[in-house]
Amino acid sequence: MIQVNESPETRFIHRFIYSSLFRNLFLSGSILALLGCATTRFTKRATDAAASPSPAASIVIAQQQSDAISRPTSKPYTGELSIFEDPKRDERLQPNRIMDILGIKEGSSVADIGAGSGWFTVRAARRVGNGGTVYAVDINRDYLDYIEKRAKGEDLSNIHVILGKEDDPLLAEKSVDAVLLLKTYHEVAQPIRLLRKTHLAMRASALLGIIDRNGKGDDHGLDKEVVIKETERAGFVLVNQYDFVKPDSVDYFLVFRAAD
Ligand SMILES: C[S@@+](CC[C@H](N)C(=O)[O-])C[C@H]1O[C@@H](n2cnc3c(N)ncnc32)[C@H](O)[C@@H]1O
Repeated sequence: MIQVNESPETRFIHRFIYSSLFRNLFLSGSILALLGCATTRFTKRATDAAASPSPAASIVIAQQQSDAISRPTSKPYTGELSIFEDPKRDERLQPNRIMDILGIKEGSSVADIGAGSGWFTVRAARRVGNGGTVYAVDINRDYLDYIEKRAKGEDLSNIHVILGKEDDPLLAEKSVDAVLLLKTYHEVAQPIRLLRKTHLAMRASALLGIIDRNGKGDDHGLDKEVVIKETERAGFVLVNQYDFVKPDSVDYFLVFRAAD
């Protein structure tokens, strides 16, 4: 064992150095611990803020969630377009009568949602003339390319194609006087959301027509009562219904206007 003989002065100096060192170490540790706590709390608050949106945003999210449907839908048609061009279809579906009922006239602005080959689009374009517009909306880019070529070939420069989203036709606000979903509703993945957006695109007194056949949703049709219920949930009121379209293998033609 090594004996160190320190003078009282030296001992005092050593003690002073050790206690200062110890105090500094203790203080730094405490500061670091405090900083750590504060950072954790701040991070937690920031995460909480990001996870819990404002009350207004919560209402929008809640509405979007409640607008989601949980019933089956049919896979969107991707086949040959010639099936929509049967020459007998004019006789069976009476497009002029459909357009009269929807108030489509010269100068009108019309949306054909789920336009397919553009069978209805071109008929509406001829009726609205150069002063009007027909928006051919579809989620299938190839079909829209076909409609664009067709419009050029038939000299119908008032046709505009829109590549819509499954829940949004991407129409401008208050841009249309009439909308038709012909044999399309049963394919729409999120119809209530799509109709809410359609509602925003409709001018005052504009009408919405839905032509489809009865079915379970995944069998190329959807029961009329389900369509009425969902369309009403999207903010529309049923104003009339017809069945003269039946010869074209459909069951109903429903006409809605925006609820007040
Ligand atoms: C059975 S076809 C009917 C075509 C046309 N309306 C007719 O009867 O001649 C349905 C069309 O709706 C389109 N479609 C499906 N879901 C859609 C959606 N959410 N928005 C727009 N178009 C949609 C499909 O791509 C397809 O062209």
